[in-house]
Amino acid sequence: MSLLLILLEISDIFLVLVCKILNTGLSKSYAIPSLVLGIEVVIMRPIVIEGQSIALGPLVKEDLERLWYWMNDKEVTQYLGPLFLRVFSLEAERKWLEKALEADDRNIFFAILLKPDYEHIGNVGLHKIDYLNRNAEVAIFIGRKDLWGQGYGSEALILALDIAFNVLEINTVYLRVMEYNERAIKCYSKVGFKFAGRLRQHIYRGGRYWDIILMDITREEFNKTHRSIIKSMCKDIFQNKKT
Ligand SMILES: CC(C)(COP(=O)(O)OP(=O)(O)OC[C@H]1O[C@@H](n2cnc3c(N)ncnc32)[C@H](O)[C@@H]1OP(=O)(O)O)[C@@H](O)C(=O)NCCC(=O)NCCS
Repeated sequence: MSLLLILLEISDIFLVLVCKILNTGLSKSYAIPSLVLGIEVVIMRPIVIEGQSIALGPLVKEDLERLWYWMNDKEVTQYLGPLFLRVFSLEAERKWLEKALEADDRNIFFAILLKPDYEHIGNVGLHKIDYLNRNAEVAIFIGRKDLWGQGYGSEALILALDIAFNVLEINTVYLRVMEYNERAIKCYSKVGFKFAGRLRQHIYRGGRYWDIILMDITREEFNKTHRSIIKSMCKDIFQNKKT
């Protein structure tokens, strides 16, 4: 890393620490180990929506190294379509993150943050958002493999769906999942996704073909079975609405 970059990083860290000491503006923070000079630094990140164990916030540039590790972990990417077939350089991951950080109404990326430290443990995203037909695709992964199967994926999905249905006013959210991903299918069914179809023999892995399963959930189904955090946060908008 060049001296200039190191100086820029240090000034960023300094600003963040000053903010923290003065307790200004940003509502939540958490500590992550930074690769900069091996010093543990505090990264500020606003929280968009917060549940019992999980919160969602925007991705930040400091997520880069973590995402790079996760995207090169075959145990994680075996479930993530074509990402399994690729090897990501740090530069390729940086370009992906820069694009993800740009405001884009059709694709929204969230960092999944585990309370109480708000540690970044994975991503959930709303993609291909079609505002005319009011549908979107959801995708999720938890990079911290030791945390799989503990309910965090379900909670992160419910928070992302609350944003999709009650902020963006999307009508239906769908997803694609490999038929061998039993943990994910169980998680999606728990949240309320229903079987919507399958693409037969759609991918080739491990010397055989596998189907891709399509699942979806409507706004009405979601709001019938889940208490909306958005609705309780934004009472002035929702006080006169029935659904
Ligand atoms: C898919 C994923 C986001 C789900 O999140 P999660 O926190 O693990 O899911 P949850 O714990 O909420 O739900 C998983 C359910 O499957 C069960 N489960 C765990 N391991 C399982 C396995 N090997 N086979 C079948 N079910 C399993 C869990 O017990 C849980 O059910 P329960 O609540 O009735 O006990 C997460 O596992 C993950 O990121 N996996 C790798 C990437 C991935 O598959 N992404 C999705 C691509 S479509």
